[in-house]
Formats: sequence, structure tokens, C-alpha cells
Amino acid sequence: MGSIATEEQYQMKKPSFPTEANSLEFAKSLDSKDHLRSFRKKFIIPSKANIKATSLSKPEDSDSAIYFCGNSLGLQPKAVAEYLQVHLNTWATVGVHGHFRKFEDSPMIQWQLLAEHAAKQAAPIVGALPSEVGIMGTLTMNLHLLMASFYTPTATKNKIILEWKAFPSDHFAIESQIRGHGYDPSEAMIMIGPEEGSYEVSTEKILSIIDEHASTTALLLLPGIQYYTGQYFDMKTITKYAQSKGLIVGWDLAHAAGNVPVQLHDWNVDFAVWCTYKYMNAGPGAIAGFYVHERHGKVEYVDDKPVFRHRLSGWYGGDQVGRMNMQNGKLGHGKQNKTLKLTGTEFRPSPGASGYQVSNPSAVDLASLCAALSVFNQTSMADIRKKSVHLTAYLEFLLLSGPSKAFQIITPADPDARGTQLSILLKPGRLETLSDMLEDAGIVADKRKPDVIRAAPVPLYNTYEDVWRFVQIFNSALAKFE
Ligand SMILES: Cc1ncc(COP(=O)(O)O)c(C=O)c1O
Repeated sequence: MGSIATEEQYQMKKPSFPTEANSLEFAKSLDSKDHLRSFRKKFIIPSKANIKATSLSKPEDSDSAIYFCGNSLGLQPKAVAEYLQVHLNTWATVGVHGHFRKFEDSPMIQWQLLAEHAAKQAAPIVGALPSEVGIMGTLTMNLHLLMASFYTPTATKNKIILEWKAFPSDHFAIESQIRGHGYDPSEAMIMIGPEEGSYEVSTEKILSIIDEHASTTALLLLPGIQYYTGQYFDMKTITKYAQSKGLIVGWDLAHAAGNVPVQLHDWNVDFAVWCTYKYMNAGPGAIAGFYVHERHGKVEYVDDKPVFRHRLSGWYGGDQVGRMNMQNGKLGHGKQNKTLKLTGTEFRPSPGASGYQVSNPSAVDLASLCAALSVFNQTSMADIRKKSVHLTAYLEFLLLSGPSKAFQIITPADPDARGTQLSILLKPGRLETLSDMLEDAGIVADKRKPDVIRAAPVPLYNTYEDVWRFVQIFNSALAKFE
């Protein structure tokens, strides 16, 4: 994964399929032409028997499960085990020196620089400059930390615009921030929802809510992709418009990072947060990512005093050399410190996103993320998006050309307004039985009560054959209700 791609590279027409596309042979022919087909082998694909196992001694079964749950937890890249072992070997071999020693036969670098290394690898995935990305903590923790810097309410301008079905954690985070500043969430939380009877929130609606509340709003915080409907918001237009009205703009990219080609830097986004366990495949609860635009990461010195955007600080936000200086006049680890003007307790942030870091990050966690990113970095978001648009359109085509009318796809039909996920709204009363039937048949997709199944074919490890088989099983399960 090299430099940031241009927007034109991502604009794709909606694929169309001939009637004969509804056959296993056709699906297999698409797989044989898939430019990313070699990537599936880089992941551990559970078998149908594995998925139902209650013991870790893996049942023998060569029949792969159909895993459409990358929107919740991505599958395990094979590289993860290797990187974790390297990390353990480093710790076992040199103990504390692992913080500063780079091994010639390690795919990683010294623990001290590992977070910056991971940030550099993650930057092209979210269309950011390497210096604009930081790796730490978890999504909600990072959201709190960044809101501490970017939500600066006043008596007359304290509202936060969010969406009507915000992921509960985002809702709680926003609510508690507002309360913490002494304002009333019932007045300061402005929720944007779709029109009655619709699931899609139009850009016009969002802009009109911005217009209505601009003079009293401090922050706009939306998801890049809405977790329930799978709608991908027009981040560029919304960011530009909200900023033109004086709002700070932040995005929750939990469902967008590694899924759709966001362009955080070019779109001038103020800040963003994401988790890495969904489309980035770094493992359950893995260390998260955040972005701050370079203008917010500037550190200038006036009379040798650092001037920078306020943030909640910790020693890992301090510049890499200074962070080890615990006391005035004493040198910390590392020979390079000799040239540093020692500053004792004065916080001198690193420029860029790394200046927003707080703590010593978990190296074991970073090892897992670096492994996952090493797979990503053998391709590009442009290539991932190309397959994703096609694969999801194939899923949509097969679902809509099937016999059942007992469901509706509530994800936008426009490929520019969605990622890989399709949210399938069932007629009432079918969800539990249907999802049990899918599970029995070795399908992993997730259910959202009361009536939605979310199916996310992931370009790095899912096949067109997975999609075809999924729809066969889905149709025959639904037929049992007719
Ligand atoms: C949209 C969204 N926001 C926030 C979160 C919470 O993430 P975390 O538990 O890593 O803080 C999730 C988790 O799935 C999510 O989907």
C-alpha cells in the first residue's frame, strides 16, 4: 500500500450481471478472474465444523464456513501468529532492550517505535498523511480523548450533531462529554435520522440540520458508515459544509476503515477514530487508530515554550527523546538524549497525531495489528474497493433475483453510498429461526434485532462462490416460511 490514491481511482459504476450469473459456474468464473484471489490463503478460514465447535481441538472438516461477519470481527490473518511469536521471542531474548533494539530478522521494529510504524502502515488505508495517524487504546477511549481536545463548548455554542441510531458507545460518550461540561444532553444532542419510512439519511437532510443548528453547535460527529443500515455518508460534502458553518467535524470510522477508501486528509476532516478488529483484521478488541489533521498537530515554540492544541496529555505524547526524561537535568535511556534540552515536567508534544498519544502501548497488541496491516499493505484500497463494489453488487443481484419477497435490502443501492455490507430487513418474526438456519448451514452473518441480518462479504477473504452459496441457503431457509 503506497501513497494516497486520488479520488477518481475510486469512482466506479455499478456492475450489472446477466441472468445466467445466478449459477455456481458463473460464481466460480468470477473467482477465477478475481485480482485479489491469492489473499484468501493469507487468512485462516474456519470450517463449518470449526464454527460450531465447543472445544479448541479443531474438528476435522475441509468444508469452509461462509464468513460474512467482517463487519463485526475480521478473520485471523496467518501472519498474526508469526508476529506474536516474534514479539514473544524478542521479549524472551532481550527483555527491556526490546524497547530500543531492532532485530535484523524481525518483521517489526523496536517497541518504542512500533506504534509510529503501525500508524505509517495504516495511513494510506484512511487517506491520511503518516504523521496524521496515531495508534492507541480503543475506539471509545480515543473518541473521549479527542473530544476532550475538539469539543470545546461555550454557553451559546455547545451542541453536538450526531445520528439517530448512533452506536450505543458513541451515544454514551457524547452524552457524558456534554454532561461533563455542564450542559444538558437532551438539549445539546441533535440527532439526524431518515425521513419516515426510509432508512437512508440524505445528504440534503444532514446539510439542512447543520443549517438549522450551526449557530449553536460546536461539533458534528457522524459514522463514516452507519453500522445498522450500512449507509456510507458523503463525508467530503458533509465535512466541507459543516466546516464552512464553523463546526468541527469528527468521524467514527469503525465500519469504514479498511472497507471504503476514505480520504481524511484531502477532505480536510478535523479528527477521526476507528477500531481495527473489523475490516482491519487485527483481532478482538485490538489496539485502535485515530487521525488528527496536520493543522491540529502543529507544535510551535515561542520563547522556547511549546504552543499546541489542547489535549489530555500523557508521556507518550511527548517527543520521542524527551519522553524518557523523568527529571530535570537527568538523562533518560539512549545516547541520543545528550543533545536534548531537558525540560523535566514540561510537556513538549511530538508534532502530529503522535503528540496525542498518552500511554506506553501494548506491544503484543501492536504485533497483532502490524501483522494484519502487513497483509493490507500487499494491496491497495483502490484494489480492495474494486472487488468490494463488484462482490457486494453480486450479492445484491442474487438476493433480488431470488424467489422470496419476504425481505428488503435497506442498504443504499448506490455503490458510492455503501461499503461491503448489505443489511437485509426481514418480514417480522423470521429473524431468530432464519439466523439459526443459516448458522446450522455454516454461515456466519450477524443479526440485529428485531429484523435485520447484516451480511458483509469481505474482498480480502470472501469469494463469489461464498456469495452464491450464501444466497442459496438464505433462499431455501426463507422458503420454509412461505
Ligand atoms: C460504530 C461503532 N462505534 C463504536 C464502537 C465501539 O468500539 P470499542 O468497543 O472498540 O470502543 C463500535 C464497535 O463495534 C462501533 O461499531
